[in-house]
Amino acid sequence: MSIAVSRENEVFLLSTKSTSYAFGIDDQGLVRHLYWGRRLERPEELEMPVLTEVSTNDPVLEITPEEFPVYGGLRYKEHCLKATFADGTREVVYRYCGYELAQHETVQELVLHLKDAHYDFLLDLHYKVYPDYDLMERSVVVQNQSAQPITIQQLHSGQFHIPYEGLNFSNVHGHWGAEQQRFVQKVGYGAIVIENRRGISTHNHNPYFILDRDATETSGEVYFGALRMSGNFSGVVRQTQYGETLAQLGLNPHDFALELQPGQSFEAPAILYGYSHRGFEAMTHNLHRFARQRVMRPGLRPVLYNSWEATEFAVNCAEQIKLAHKAKELGAELFVLDDGWFGQRHGIDNGLGDWYVNQDKFPHGLEELIDAVKGLDMKFGLWVEPEMVNPKAQLYQDHPDWIYHFDTRTSDTSRGQYVLNLAKEEVQRFVYETMDGLLTRYDIDYIKWDANRPISQTCLRQDIWVTHIRAVYDIVTRLKQKHPHVLFEACASGGGRIDYGILGIFDDFWTSDNTDACDRLSIQDAYSYLYPIKAMRAWVTDCPNFLSQRVIPLSFRYHSAMMGSLGIGCNILKFTPQDVALSRQMIAQYKEIRPIVQEGDFYRLDNPSPNRYFLYEYLKGEQGLLFAFLPQSRVGHRGTTVRLRGLEEDARYTVHTPQGDVTKSGRCLMQCGLPLHLHGDYASALIPFTKEGSSETPFDTQSGGSTT
Ligand code: GLA
Repeated sequence: MSIAVSRENEVFLLSTKSTSYAFGIDDQGLVRHLYWGRRLERPEELEMPVLTEVSTNDPVLEITPEEFPVYGGLRYKEHCLKATFADGTREVVYRYCGYELAQHETVQELVLHLKDAHYDFLLDLHYKVYPDYDLMERSVVVQNQSAQPITIQQLHSGQFHIPYEGLNFSNVHGHWGAEQQRFVQKVGYGAIVIENRRGISTHNHNPYFILDRDATETSGEVYFGALRMSGNFSGVVRQTQYGETLAQLGLNPHDFALELQPGQSFEAPAILYGYSHRGFEAMTHNLHRFARQRVMRPGLRPVLYNSWEATEFAVNCAEQIKLAHKAKELGAELFVLDDGWFGQRHGIDNGLGDWYVNQDKFPHGLEELIDAVKGLDMKFGLWVEPEMVNPKAQLYQDHPDWIYHFDTRTSDTSRGQYVLNLAKEEVQRFVYETMDGLLTRYDIDYIKWDANRPISQTCLRQDIWVTHIRAVYDIVTRLKQKHPHVLFEACASGGGRIDYGILGIFDDFWTSDNTDACDRLSIQDAYSYLYPIKAMRAWVTDCPNFLSQRVIPLSFRYHSAMMGSLGIGCNILKFTPQDVALSRQMIAQYKEIRPIVQEGDFYRLDNPSPNRYFLYEYLKGEQGLLFAFLPQSRVGHRGTTVRLRGLEEDARYTVHTPQGDVTKSGRCLMQCGLPLHLHGDYASALIPFTKEGSSETPFDTQSGGSTT
């Protein structure tokens, strides 16, 4: 059993394979947090000390570590919920009313029922346990059973307590073209707030917290939580005055209000959370496995070619067909036609909303290109940006009231476009029917769904910050029910929609418009802490890179992109015979190693050298890969030592180095490591290894597996 209840003192102990999380009902009727850490066995051993105030200014409510603190009473700390009742009362007082346990296949769920002392306002705290992944998930459902509306002004999905000070907090910062810049900072007194206020997406921070006690990849305690939601989130980490650190994640209270009408309920986005006493690697492996096995659609992702950087808006059928032929010659399996194919789309300022094929660019319809692509035995993908409209588009002329706006204000354009008001049912219907129409009429296997601007001039509703993204989730979910073979890529001006809310509804993430192979190493590294490699779309693009102006050898660009789901975004019609030969070789190799890259365990390896090597390992069963990069050889120009991880100590492994095969025990490869010396600038290597006596054919071209 993963959930144990001690009825005596009403303590709930939630346990996975190696972790436990506990809380109970205290003498004040509060849901009090008790424990988060390594696995415990007996809930009755957990104590519920009677708390007394530190002083009149430090009341008991303030010092009680609550699972779900509400706004009200002598509480001045972070609260998860603030509600205003119809009579103006702005305080919630809850009573514990009992619990329920449910078993859903392999997952146990606990629901704690809380109810307001005066109003018919119910709060259900939900906890799910995923024992094999060392993960749990929590959320809250608020329900109005009264006859009057209730306004929710703040709703965080839960509070976590870590009984230490001086933790390290890590997340990412950045902006367009510079997403996923990892940072680590000490938690001091005061709060750290990460958030998104843009509605559509965020390139700035990601909706998760990682708190560690000087952990490394393989040692030390790590506490983490990831919000299952895109759009306006907020996360607060605060070291309190009482020797602990708390963390919350949930809907951003910025400009937010949700009217709960009588009889209505609302489920806050869930938080996936966990604990590791073996450093970041265990966190990554548990989340990656959970994502692959329980969140994402199964199957390997195809190697795609995307024509955006080659042709931008100036698409025409003949050139796209030429690109498709070339892409096929290189080994691509999916051809994606990006922006520019519809309406009067010749630049950013027109076309969005007019989702019919541009006759001048495709005089014989899109079928001509699709038939050519299918004739090459490739899949076909299409770019869309369905949440948007350009002022010049016919859709806007017909429905000027379909955009977010205030009647007395001018709505701002950004990238020459407005955002459609997806809180309106007729707009949701339009988006669904437009997409369904495209997917029904054309033989499409892949949709790249973009969103290139934030929301402004929201309209009078203050819940659109969550309503909008939930409408997107709902539309895509329904489209996939009707067109189950279609893969959806989540893009928002690059990597603006990477989170555990959208994953599973969408299949792939566009990681960043920054396709510089060197910048991508750190972007991909930061991404990998939480998010699965299979969803990480990575393209090889032309040099000089449009952003960095850097010229990087094609082999380095391939190696960098082969660390994720490989795509090609070059103008391949300009490829030299050497580029073609190298591309064919690299793409063929990628297909061989794809199951290991997309479905193996991922390791961020240590680099002991003063020279800045990037070293990564992938391991699946008896086969593994080492990716090594040296963007710039520096002072001393030294080599490094690669200590592999995750091997069987007594097994022997053959490492296929460029200098020849080396066979050593797992113990030796993990402890002594292998010397590796790359030379010059933008040096890279992809080194496979195999367990001796492996029944798996080492890197057989046939083992590439099938793709979804
Ligand atoms: C966004 C995406 C790009 C490309 C363009 C097309 O910027 O991130 O990959 O699709 O839109 O306009």
